[in-house]
Amino acid sequence: MKIKSADFVISNSDVARCPNEPIPEYAFIGRSNVGKSSLINMLTERKSLAKTSGRPGKTQLINHFKINENWFLVDLPGYGYARVSKRDKKTFQKYITNYFLQREQLVCSFVLVDIRHEPQPIDMEFMQWMGENGIPFAIIFTKADKLKPKAIERDVKTYLDTLTADMWEEAPQHFVTSASQRSGRDELLNFIDDINEK
Ligand code: GTP
Ligand code: MG
Repeated sequence: MKIKSADFVISNSDVARCPNEPIPEYAFIGRSNVGKSSLINMLTERKSLAKTSGRPGKTQLINHFKINENWFLVDLPGYGYARVSKRDKKTFQKYITNYFLQREQLVCSFVLVDIRHEPQPIDMEFMQWMGENGIPFAIIFTKADKLKPKAIERDVKTYLDTLTADMWEEAPQHFVTSASQRSGRDELLNFIDDINEK
């Protein structure tokens, strides 16, 4: 798929105020600093469409980007950021869970995990919650440039084996990406394109 246009639409913390056009939507979620915003910029080939930072906690709101005038990419704040207050964490959890539970256009979400990390309880719990609520998602292993191909293969297998041992009979679909090396882009865009065409 060619990205002809990618435009920021709106940021907010209320799912009721998200754009109401009934076009397919794809959301990026995962721990703070895992590379959600960077991946959106890599996919759209726009350097600073989504704001990124070396410090976790950069994205604070639900951000809608309209792609090729006919679908949305959504950048969400990360979870698991230790430095936010308990109250902020609660507020955040509320609007993110509302977003996932109420957003009708959401056709598939991507749960991003850093390829260097072993399965983390917070990610496992989140994926479990998605499963229990029937919210479709795929996993994206990010920052693949940090490992050699052999290690990627081994660690992805271990990760997916853990999921199938603990949670599901079948592991979710997965992708391996690097925003800095621009790898995994075609696979992800083709996946989205196939869903859009259905
Ligand atoms: P929050 O908005 O805080 O939840 O973070 P985020 O998940 O949006 O992460 P962001 O895209 O802001 O990236 C966090 C840091 O990781 C930045 O320093 C990025 O440059 C770096 N980063 C993102 N993707 C990659 C990647 O593929 N490879 C490498 N090496 N670094 C990456
Ligand atoms: Mg971000």
